[in-house]
Amino acid sequence: MIFRLLRLPRTLWNRFADGWLWPLWLRAQGVDYGTGLKLVGRPEIRQAEHGVIKLGDQVSLYSRPNSNPLQLHSPCALYTLAPGAQIHIGSQTAMSGAVICAATSVKIGERVLIGANVKILDTDFHPLNAEARKRDRNAGATTRPITIGNDVFIGTGALILRGTIIGDGCVVGAGAVVSGTFPPASVIAGNPAKNLTNGTEIVEKTQQAAPEIEE
Ligand SMILES: CC(C)(COP(=O)(O)OP(=O)(O)OC[C@H]1O[C@@H](n2cnc3c(N)ncnc32)[C@H](O)[C@@H]1OP(=O)(O)O)[C@@H](O)C(=O)NCCC(=O)NCCS
Repeated sequence: MIFRLLRLPRTLWNRFADGWLWPLWLRAQGVDYGTGLKLVGRPEIRQAEHGVIKLGDQVSLYSRPNSNPLQLHSPCALYTLAPGAQIHIGSQTAMSGAVICAATSVKIGERVLIGANVKILDTDFHPLNAEARKRDRNAGATTRPITIGNDVFIGTGALILRGTIIGDGCVVGAGAVVSGTFPPASVIAGNPAKNLTNGTEIVEKTQQAAPEIEE
């Protein structure tokens, strides 16, 4: 009881900030969002000139460190890095501490679940050629749009690199380093991430008994 009373000011502040202040702050940063936006903590926003950040209806952004049992390393961060870059996030998509950097375009579908501490970047940030880096480390990086389909589930700590296309209904494994094109309903895991399903149906294993461990 006493602890609840001591926490009351913070609880009230969080309710006010998450419900009113941070949504207004997002608008002030030029973020376009639909109805039913859910914010837990303040996301980081950075907008390049003519950058577009658009969120559909009922998008949820969890940014407070303890808002996910896995603990968030950072708030959600949505950055457009170059003039005219775009980030589109579909309706009912939810993310926890995800960092999304777009130098051209990152498009994420509807009902996508983005696990804790995922990073999605459509640019290498620096050129691959050493001479080019010596001349200007920030100019000439390879940049390609990223598209993530509807109903994708991205496991914690996954890294999605430039040019990646992930089809509808895919599952991305925890810690995967993903680069390439993956057809709908693939399970993608590992570094470099591979398609584990190769056309077979995703099978739910929740009812499976744990295997016997031989002594
Ligand atoms: C990728 C995942 C969905 C695979 O589930 P699955 O289809 O049931 O696959 P299995 O557990 O049968 O594993 C299949 C193979 O992939 C490997 N594998 C499974 N998950 C892996 C991962 N994240 N990275 C690399 N390899 C993985 C297994 O070791 C196994 O390899 P093997 O065939 O050589 O033995 C699951 O392991 C996973 O990573 N879930 C994400 C959990 C998560 O991050 N939740 C979000 C919290 S916010």
